[in-house]
Amino acid sequence: MPTCLLLTVWFLLCIPGSLHMVGAQNQIGATTHPGDEKALNSIFAAWKIRASRAWNTSGELCSGAAIDDNIFIDDKAYNPFIKCDCTFNSSTICRITALKVYALDVVGPIPPQLWTLIYLSNLNLAQNYLTGSISPAIGNLTRMEWLTFGVNALSGPFPKEIGLLTNLKSLGIGLNNLSGPIPAEIGTCTKLLKIYLSNSGLRGEVPSSFANLVELEDVTVTFYLLYYLFYILMTTLSQLPERTSNGYLLIAASGGLNQQRTGITDAVVVARILNATLVVPELDHHSYWKDDR
Ligand SMILES: *[C@@H]1O[C@H](CO)[C@@H](O)[C@H](O)[C@H]1NC(C)=O
Ligand SMILES: *[C@@H]1O[C@H](CO)[C@@H](O)[C@H](O)[C@H]1NC(C)=O
Ligand SMILES: *[C@@H]1O[C@H](CO)[C@@H](O)[C@H](O)[C@H]1NC(C)=O
Ligand SMILES: *[C@@H]1O[C@H](CO)[C@@H](O)[C@H](O)[C@H]1NC(C)=O
Ligand SMILES: *[C@@H]1O[C@H](CO)[C@@H](O)[C@H](O)[C@H]1NC(C)=O
Repeated sequence: MPTCLLLTVWFLLCIPGSLHMVGAQNQIGATTHPGDEKALNSIFAAWKIRASRAWNTSGELCSGAAIDDNIFIDDKAYNPFIKCDCTFNSSTICRITALKVYALDVVGPIPPQLWTLIYLSNLNLAQNYLTGSISPAIGNLTRMEWLTFGVNALSGPFPKEIGLLTNLKSLGIGLNNLSGPIPAEIGTCTKLLKIYLSNSGLRGEVPSSFANLVELEDVTVTFYLLYYLFYILMTTLSQLPERTSNGYLLIAASGGLNQQRTGITDAVVVARILNATLVVPELDHHSYWKDDR
């Protein structure tokens, strides 16, 4: 009887104790993957920026706000910022899943180490002065969902390896100094909801592969590209009689005054196509409700 009581007491004391131990290990025991840590430290060193006091408190990159589930990557109070997933190797290893270096006046090329952070699903490098080209090694970041390089000075072609990022939901490359065509491979990123291409420097037609991007709901392109885009979307919509989504697409044009003025003749064509585009969802609406009536 005394033995049993002793066991019960031990059991009751032991359970909360061990839970506490596990909790403490998650917070302190899990360490940043050495490759991710090395890569991020060298990227920040090259860009002459440092982690804020809210994380990397003890030299551990995946700590503090970076592993707080209530603080999101877009939180304005944290910049630069990362988020980590510490569930790897039985919750002993953290991988960097998000990186934000937003409007920090960072000057220089994108360090090659960035392309080794293969667990990134969110990368925001917008509004800096990044120069040089975007490496084809971007094709390794296959978990990427939210990606923006917008408002920088990046040059060279946009790598066709973008087509390997099939989880991509948003792509921002507007306001850069890129050259060459819009890669047709973007058409294989069929989960895309948003594309911002305005004034990226890319030239030529919107590739017809964009017809695969049936989830698109927000697009910005330079004015002269509108014609191509509407043409492709009209074709897409007319081939999708079952489409029962919200039925509209937000498209914004931008460009200098000159581009807009020369675009006025095109606007007549665009208006005609737009009319046709908007008719289709209206028909869908009818067929959608027919069964209920
Ligand atoms: C994190 O802290 C360590 C130790 O203080 C430092 O060497 C490293 O550069 C810091 N990393 C970043 C990204 O600021
Ligand atoms: C995590 O576990 C894998 C095997 O599952 C092993 O190959 C790898 O070295 C481990 N990583 C670390 C940093 O311990
Ligand atoms: C991915 O990275 C490896 C090296 O880690 C490299 O050999 C390969 O070419 C990269 N893939 C792409 C698509 O760049
Ligand atoms: C834009 O890129 C070209 C090379 O493609 C380069 O000559 C030029 O200096 C760049 N302009 C800016 C503003 O970075
Ligand atoms: C747009 O469609 C309406 C009817 O749906 C038609 O009356 C009108 O003429 C069309 N406008 C153009 C520019 O095609």
